Amino acid sequence: MKVLAILGSPKRKGTGYKVVQQIEQKMNQVGKVEFDYLFLSDANLGLCRGCFLCVTKGEDLCPMNEDRISIERRIESADGVILVSPGYVQNVSWLMKNFIDRFAYTHHRPKFLDKKVMIVANGGAGLEKVLDSLRIAIGGPEVVSELAYMKTPWPIAPKVEEKQGKRLEKAAVRFYQAINEKSNEPSFTNYMGFKFFKEIIPAVREYLPADYEFYKDKKDYYYATRIDASKRIGAGILSRIVTFLMRDLAPYEDRKSRE
Ligand SMILES: Cc1cc2nc3c(=O)[nH]c(=O)nc-3n(C[C@H](O)[C@H](O)[C@H](O)COP(=O)(O)O)c2cc1C
Repeated sequence: MKVLAILGSPKRKGTGYKVVQQIEQKMNQVGKVEFDYLFLSDANLGLCRGCFLCVTKGEDLCPMNEDRISIERRIESADGVILVSPGYVQNVSWLMKNFIDRFAYTHHRPKFLDKKVMIVANGGAGLEKVLDSLRIAIGGPEVVSELAYMKTPWPIAPKVEEKQGKRLEKAAVRFYQAINEKSNEPSFTNYMGFKFFKEIIPAVREYLPADYEFYKDKKDYYYATRIDASKRIGAGILSRIVTFLMRDLAPYEDRKSRE
């Protein structure tokens, strides 16, 4: 089993790194796990310039030609990914936010949905908000385990440390087990995402050509898998309702001015 840990602290080997090392150790007590550490502070991943070309016309047209492609490969070669960020004013660090933005196209054209994800936030206040940002990163593969790890600038009581250690161990074991299950049936949310994109993309074809090319030949899902009948029916109905509710966002055609 291969796990890639993506660490968003500018401090490199700070608290987040120590937490991941403990996760690595706990997982290896259950079974053999090979860990790869990606320190975003070392990566040559430029700041997103906001051209939006990756989403509209395709990530190959991103004007920055650096580590994004090798990072993609590292994610692809892992079975599980751990996303780690310190809490900075109740949000992810800038390094993690830039990483999330640089992979924005995967929210339209998912690449990593076969991965299992663990999210880890560390710091004090506002860790839930940090976890919320991490939860949707890299196009939304299923988050199977999460950990809010408290780290205060002062020492905390041994019994609190002990409790935290137990929570860490549970989260690490849960992550191991979820990867080991090897199930690739999509979650309702991800299946719903597929149905939604499939439904709306033809109408915005000229504005999102990369999405159109990506979805046009896809039938049941992003990859071959079994889709439960209730999920199929539920998502079909819901995606139509969502499309209807979002009708004001549909491309505007000024028919009168064309006449
Ligand atoms: C710019 C900045 C903002 C921070 N904001 C918060 C915060 O909102 N709440 C908090 O409890 N800790 C905050 N912290 C502290 C870090 O979250 C905490 O020290 C964390 O454990 C550092 O993790 P690291 O060693 O992996 O970088 C902040 C630190 C920095 C540098």
